[in-house]
Amino acid sequence: MLEKTKNTRNGRLTVLVTGCDGQLGSELRKLAKSGDCSFCRFLFVDVSVLDICNRADVHNYFKTNHIDVIVNCAAYTAVDRAEDEPESAFAVNRDGVGILAECCVEEGAYMIHISTDYVFDGTGHVPYRETDAVNPIGVYGLSKRAGEEAMMEKGVDGLIIRTAWLYSSYGKNFVKTMLRLGSEKEQVAVVADQHGTPTWAADLARTILHILQNTDIKNTHGLEIFHYTDEGECTWYEFASAIMQMGGKKCQVMPISTDEYPASCRRPAYSVLDKTKIKERFGLEIPLWDDSLQRMLAELDKRDSCC
Ligand SMILES: NC(=O)c1ccc[n+]([C@@H]2O[C@H](COP(=O)([O-])OP(=O)(O)OC[C@H]3O[C@@H](n4cnc5c(N)ncnc54)[C@H](OP(=O)(O)O)[C@@H]3O)[C@@H](O)[C@H]2O)c1
Repeated sequence: MLEKTKNTRNGRLTVLVTGCDGQLGSELRKLAKSGDCSFCRFLFVDVSVLDICNRADVHNYFKTNHIDVIVNCAAYTAVDRAEDEPESAFAVNRDGVGILAECCVEEGAYMIHISTDYVFDGTGHVPYRETDAVNPIGVYGLSKRAGEEAMMEKGVDGLIIRTAWLYSSYGKNFVKTMLRLGSEKEQVAVVADQHGTPTWAADLARTILHILQNTDIKNTHGLEIFHYTDEGECTWYEFASAIMQMGGKKCQVMPISTDEYPASCRRPAYSVLDKTKIKERFGLEIPLWDDSLQRMLAELDKRDSCC
């Protein structure tokens, strides 16, 4: 492994963000532009610039750019479609992650990777800890777990942050779908027996920067798993009801069971994550999911009214 110090330029970390046009990548880019991250120099790349599945391109990118840290936001995230396209899901979520990890090992870079609550089967009743047994029940969850294992096999230094129910003012997500349906329909039926925690991707992006700022990357070795979501828990039905209410939509939300909702992929019934470890390690104060939802909707309103 190369000496990590070789890569650090003028004391600033060079941070490669892959999959930068997705929800989390866009939130990181917004933060980087806001000027709060002068300790980093960012390189933002999406699939058109760097396909993480292309081993030769990724190796070449690492050889020609001095990367201290990679934050991998690239992923195959179409949970239902993955059931019909397992090869595509595994190509990105397992093999692509493995390629990034192998480059990090060769070049002495640190890897921050995002995984999911869907590595758990959802039969639990108390928040899942990092040490709890995984047992994914769908292709997406299986492919994301395989990505975690690929990092372990490569022996990369870094961390895996498992998160859940991400939404953002960027990209496609449940919040934006509900707002659209709220304007088009009088009623919408939403599953009321799956429990989790909605998480604003902006909160996760801020957490990643906080971790970067408070970690001695050059002297941190090994691979650790952390759980991060916003605080609290709810069902998709409660989440949808909050979106309609805060979004000023008159659309009525009807609770239905998982069995009544046609979906290709089975989802965990309970996937709340325990965040004790990340809060204690990094001194985090995490916002409540409904406070964050309010802030995201305000941001969306502001953007809509000025464009
Ligand atoms: N969304 C959720 O609810 C959720 C929940 C738990 C965990 N997570 C995890 O959180 C992370 C961020 O999720 P997100 O919601 O920000 O995802 P996202 O919005 O779907 O963004 C993923 C990005 O990765 C890009 N990408 C796909 N294949 C790629 C490849 N081979 N090389 C490079 N880039 C590629 C996508 O491009 P295209 O759009 O062109 O495909 C997209 O820009 C992911 O690891 C995801 O698994 C998400």
